[in-house]
Amino acid sequence: MNGRMTTLIISLSFAFMATSGSAWAADAAAGAIIFNANCSSCHGISGAGDGPVGAALTPPPRDFTVGDFAFDPNEDGAKGADEDLTLVIKNGAMKYGGSPLMAPWPTLSDAQVTDIVAHIRTLKTAEAPAE
Ligand code: HEC
Repeated sequence: MNGRMTTLIISLSFAFMATSGSAWAADAAAGAIIFNANCSSCHGISGAGDGPVGAALTPPPRDFTVGDFAFDPNEDGAKGADEDLTLVIKNGAMKYGGSPLMAPWPTLSDAQVTDIVAHIRTLKTAEAPAE
């Protein structure tokens, strides 16, 4: 590839990133669609852990409206970081000492999991309770 072509491609890449914010930005709206289809039966549409299946489970599904997480798969001492949620979603909670009912989701792509995590962040409402 000659230098001019390389320059053109790099310029086009920057133009794309400028118009889309970031080429790798998480898309919470796309994540919501996947979450509602695959996760809401347990976690609930609101994320409160009150889906029709989740309501009967022990332990209950995590309540995402509180945003308090249990596992630290990347073992950095802080639970519930994006990477931690990603690992629980991909590998399941049992691998990290949790319930087998939170099963692994190996069929979701990295981009899909990133979008779902972004959606989960939007579900946290506990610090701003409705009055
Ligand atoms: C069959 C019910 C069920 C389904 C479906 C389900 N979960 Fe869960 N999930 C659970 C349960 C139960 C827990 C709590 C596990 C525990 O505390 O050991 C949990 C916990 C979690 C956690 C908390 C991890 C932490 O560190 O606290 C995340 C994140 C999560 N689920 C994401 C998802 C996503 C995303 C999907 C869909 C792709 C999904 N879950 C589908 C039952 C489910």
